Amino acid sequence: MRVADAPGKAILFGEHAVLYGAPAVAIAIDLRASFSVTNSETWILNGEEFNPMENPYLLPLISKFGDFESPLCLNIESKIPIAAGLGSSAALSVASALAISSKPQSIEKIARAAHHAEALAQGGRASPTDTSTSALGGVVVVAPSVIDSLEHRWAIDLESPEGSNHWDVHSLQIPENIAGLSLVIGYTGVPSSTKEMVEIVASRMTSDSFKSSMDEVSSLAQSSINLLKTGTPSMIGDAMNQCHSLLREIGVSSLELESLIDAALPFSYGAKLTGAGGGGCILALAKNPSACAKAIKEAGGVAFVTSIAQQGVQLKTN
Ligand code: PMV
Repeated sequence: MRVADAPGKAILFGEHAVLYGAPAVAIAIDLRASFSVTNSETWILNGEEFNPMENPYLLPLISKFGDFESPLCLNIESKIPIAAGLGSSAALSVASALAISSKPQSIEKIARAAHHAEALAQGGRASPTDTSTSALGGVVVVAPSVIDSLEHRWAIDLESPEGSNHWDVHSLQIPENIAGLSLVIGYTGVPSSTKEMVEIVASRMTSDSFKSSMDEVSSLAQSSINLLKTGTPSMIGDAMNQCHSLLREIGVSSLELESLIDAALPFSYGAKLTGAGGGGCILALAKNPSACAKAIKEAGGVAFVTSIAQQGVQLKTN
């Protein structure tokens, strides 16, 4: 049996602004998705027969790393909530790419194949943020061009219905005092549609005031790269608070997100919505993680205490 697991992700800075030229700064989280593969007489997915030709996520991965003549029994287990902006589908794509492959593969090859599979399944549209972060672990910066101060991992190009896209994927090494901090994720329980939120934001970008808020989200994302290397937890928390106020002005917060932010803030250096917004999750840089998680639960959310997961995708058995 081959088992691989991979982490989900949360966006620390740059959501939405990444679509307007800013870097996205994402972290891998302790919630993981696991994918196991054994040889089988027929194709089985989670106990049920299935046709791999009809599974848009698995088809490109089996084509690349597997063999249609040798059926597999596949099992998925995931602790990452779905449609919460925590990269659950990317983590599964990354873990399945590694588990399906019978030969050793580089992290880059796994991340590329998983991104390609996500893009195919999503009508040609997928940024590599989720798949790269899940594959690499740690802090990952995805930007439209190379950032010299960071470790460049790879470049990805994608033809989407809107035209050509280019991304440069980097790893950001953070000092131990920051790497050791706890974050608390608060899930509203309300699903978030990235596609819908991106469209809403796009329709607002004709207004100067929305545009100037977006420019500020972009500058914060840019300056967060240095802040994460040299700043204190309070400075990072302040930047998260500022980022949240701007995202609220752009209109992607919600009553549920605001209520979880209010609950988390007394126990945190800072807190913000993470990902597309509208629903989904908040992310708090916690001073007191257990009190923060308790407050989020009392406010009606589901809380997960996490660190920045340094381990990206990994093969658990061979
Ligand atoms: O899908 P989520 O919730 O992790 O957030 C997507 C982040 C956006 O910037 C809104 C969209 C994107 O493709 O980067």
